[in-house]
Amino acid sequence: MAASVGVCRLHMRGSEKLIRCCLGVLPQSKRRLATTTSHLKTRAVKQTATSAKEIKSFQAIQEERREQAERSVLINCPAKINENKFLDDLSKHGPINKHFFYNSYGTYAVVEFSSRESILSLKERTNIPAVQHEAAVPFKSRLLSVKQTGSGSNSVPNFKEHSPPTINDIIKLLSEQDSIDEQLLCLTEALQLTEENISLRFLVCSLLRDIAAAYFPECIIRPFGSTVNSFGKLGCDLDMFLDLDGIYAPSQKSGSGVSLEYQVKRGASERVVTQNILSVVGECVDKFGPGCVGVQKILQARCPLVRFAHQPSGFQCDLTANNRVAMKSSELLFLYGTLDPRVRHLVFSVRCWARVHAVTSSIPGPWITNFSLTVMVLFFLQQRSPPILPTLDQLKELSGASDKCVIESNDCTIVSDLSKITVQNNTDTLVTLLQEFFEFYGNFPFNKASINIRKGKDQIKPETSALHIQNPFESALNVSKNVNATQLERFVALCRESAWLLQQREVLNRSSSQSDESVSPWGFAALLLPSVTAGAGVKSRRKRKLEPASSRIKNLLDSLKIKGADAAAKKGSNNHRR
Ligand code: GTP
Ligand code: MG
Repeated sequence: MAASVGVCRLHMRGSEKLIRCCLGVLPQSKRRLATTTSHLKTRAVKQTATSAKEIKSFQAIQEERREQAERSVLINCPAKINENKFLDDLSKHGPINKHFFYNSYGTYAVVEFSSRESILSLKERTNIPAVQHEAAVPFKSRLLSVKQTGSGSNSVPNFKEHSPPTINDIIKLLSEQDSIDEQLLCLTEALQLTEENISLRFLVCSLLRDIAAAYFPECIIRPFGSTVNSFGKLGCDLDMFLDLDGIYAPSQKSGSGVSLEYQVKRGASERVVTQNILSVVGECVDKFGPGCVGVQKILQARCPLVRFAHQPSGFQCDLTANNRVAMKSSELLFLYGTLDPRVRHLVFSVRCWARVHAVTSSIPGPWITNFSLTVMVLFFLQQRSPPILPTLDQLKELSGASDKCVIESNDCTIVSDLSKITVQNNTDTLVTLLQEFFEFYGNFPFNKASINIRKGKDQIKPETSALHIQNPFESALNVSKNVNATQLERFVALCRESAWLLQQREVLNRSSSQSDESVSPWGFAALLLPSVTAGAGVKSRRKRKLEPASSRIKNLLDSLKIKGADAAAKKGSNNHRR
């Protein structure tokens, strides 16, 4: 049976305006926004024109990036450096494919050579530094520093931005758009990981692999989660797993000779072996890994991990081992994100909205996680008529023999060839989807129903947790078991408020009398404004039921009017001065 998914309809009205607006704001991220928005139109055209057959598989993309990372080095540079001379010097070791500079606790350059031999040649010409009063661990990694000699340079390289725009910048940027659909496109463009940021993430994995390879030469460190699932936001953590599968690959048969096997140390269980490996690798990262600081071994967690900060990249890193299901979940999310561009725009918007209202948090606790929230968006899109996304069971039915995947007795099989998925003509606009997402979850029967993307229908809740979202590949598990009733109620209350707000004329339409400079937050930007009343949480819920136009909303609308009036008055006085 062919799965049915919606046809992509990107609404590009006013895209020139969008580009112009993006150029006019956010001094820090101006260049990134300008480039990304200018690609919006072409990208949209390409996406509709490109058949699914031409889309590379998830594995092919990961392999390509991993291979590029192995040919790359990360170099700490002086803040002022002659870029051309720097590249000339490095290219003596071989042709350079690409490079970029960025700032994070100093100036860094990522340089990707065409071949790995160049790295060997570069390393041969690189010295272990002589340090005074301390001693250096003589570990030759691909994290290098330019040793300043001579008078230096006065030129500053062209930096790539790696930090997300602030919420105020986002509100300003969105308010300057012409429609809510444009706002949501613009939001994704402003928040999503850049190509350079993704390359840097793969490079950090590759640098860590060099450390782990001292024990396990066949190992690979693979990124998963939001780095690769297409929903990553600038500044998100770097989830990695130590893949030791290459070690188990059968060695060449030795013909009729004696058959040998390795003597191995045994552990009480798979979990104990994983903990031991992570403990040792974590120790090496701590003691030998240049730039790795604040290493914590969290080995008793359900999924044991080593957490640390990688200073040169600025990434917060979580290294796990034996975590194939999470990798498969990342592939699934990537597949859903690739099927229809509206998926990513809606996920980015909902994630951003949830973060601003503290529905999600970077601190572990009883909050909804980004992963759970993403599954909720996917489930909602499966409910549309016609459905925008296929169910997980449909993706399994479309799979071929080579897609078969069983991990720890969980059947994780999904189709990898996207061309097998037939799309249906769903023409919902982003603003419709956003409004209806809030309505859907504002009225969802959380007390008795479970969210299940495998079936694409809600199921009877098998347990008493406040929120039940079936783990896509481990059906006995609830991915939102941590969420308590208070947090769920906050989420529901905020969904209802946002649904209500999106029906208000003042929120829905940009005031035509305002110029780009003085525009008040409207549309999606208005949903990101902080709560006006302190009781915009659970405590005021009873009151809100009696009085749908809650005080928060009233105040919010009042504040919109006041701000609009203030801006108009300010503009008037500026004109007057001129
Ligand atoms: P960010 O918040 O941007 O980091 O999103 P993320 O998707 O990377 O989430 P997170 O870092 O919390 O988790 C990384 C990955 O682990 C997710 O993408 C999932 O693949 C997986 N994961 C996270 N939480 C769960 C869970 O509760 N159950 C299962 N099975 N997998 C999870
Ligand atoms: Mg993550």
